[in-house]
Amino acid sequence: MSSARLIDGKAIAAQIHSETQARVLALKEKRGIVPGITFVRVGEDPASQAYVRMKGAKAAELGIHSDTVVLKESTSQEELLALIQKLNTDPKVHCILVQAPLPKHIREEEIFSAIDFHKDVDGFHPINVGKLLLGQNPLFKPCTPAGVHELLIRTGVPLSGAEVVVLGRGNIVGKPMAAILLQKDKYADATVTLLHSRSKNIADHCRRADIIIAAMGQAHFVKADMVKPGAVVIDVGVNRIDDPQSAKGYRLVGDVDFEAVRQVAGAITPNPGGVGPMTIAMLLSNTARAAEAF
Ligand code: GUN
Repeated sequence: MSSARLIDGKAIAAQIHSETQARVLALKEKRGIVPGITFVRVGEDPASQAYVRMKGAKAAELGIHSDTVVLKESTSQEELLALIQKLNTDPKVHCILVQAPLPKHIREEEIFSAIDFHKDVDGFHPINVGKLLLGQNPLFKPCTPAGVHELLIRTGVPLSGAEVVVLGRGNIVGKPMAAILLQKDKYADATVTLLHSRSKNIADHCRRADIIIAAMGQAHFVKADMVKPGAVVIDVGVNRIDDPQSAKGYRLVGDVDFEAVRQVAGAITPNPGGVGPMTIAMLLSNTARAAEAF
């Protein structure tokens, strides 16, 4: 059996970063604008700390200004909403990113809806989500599914009429992923099946798919016998599994059983090094877009 082509998310993300850098330079030279993003982090979740640090460091490399506001775990809904109102009216802040997950006592949807939709780089505001669903070209699309879309386009994977299975119906990845691929567009026009925890015959659906996008958050869920030979497999999952061999006591694995699936698939994303770098690339491209539209 042959081994799948690896879809190099790092290399494609680097390409997008250099395009963003050129846009940032043009904004500065032509309009004197330095794009600015404010990250809001609540509590001390180590993964969120690492993600925000990484996003800020990459922003700086591209000439994008970033600030991070860190709030205590006990911050109330009202305090967080008041901060967002302040950032909404601050002309130096082009974008606001409230890092999820938020503490349990915070109503996340209400927070995302309070962000001015012109500053909603995450694409989570109901206006941006609604426009995406209606095919009305929202200012921002959610970064992870937009990144998966770019990976597919830039790797030359045919999408028009393709059978795509999306595993997972979350608001951050699954649902917007399906909406993006369903658009009437030469870079979409796919036939999308969205599967979730109550779906039946998941393996059968997967075996018919030309493209499988796994985003349900279950370690190594997609097995080799669920994949049609030659299919494209995109692994969005980030799952912690116990690993006594590792210094931390755990390691991160995807939703795809990579070593087995790569023997069957035509192309596959490594994980890490596949979708992750694309999320940051789309975030910073969106940040430049916010400043361009300001
Ligand atoms: N947490 C995990 N993914 C994301 C994302 O794309 N945006 C935000 N704000 N939080 C996240």
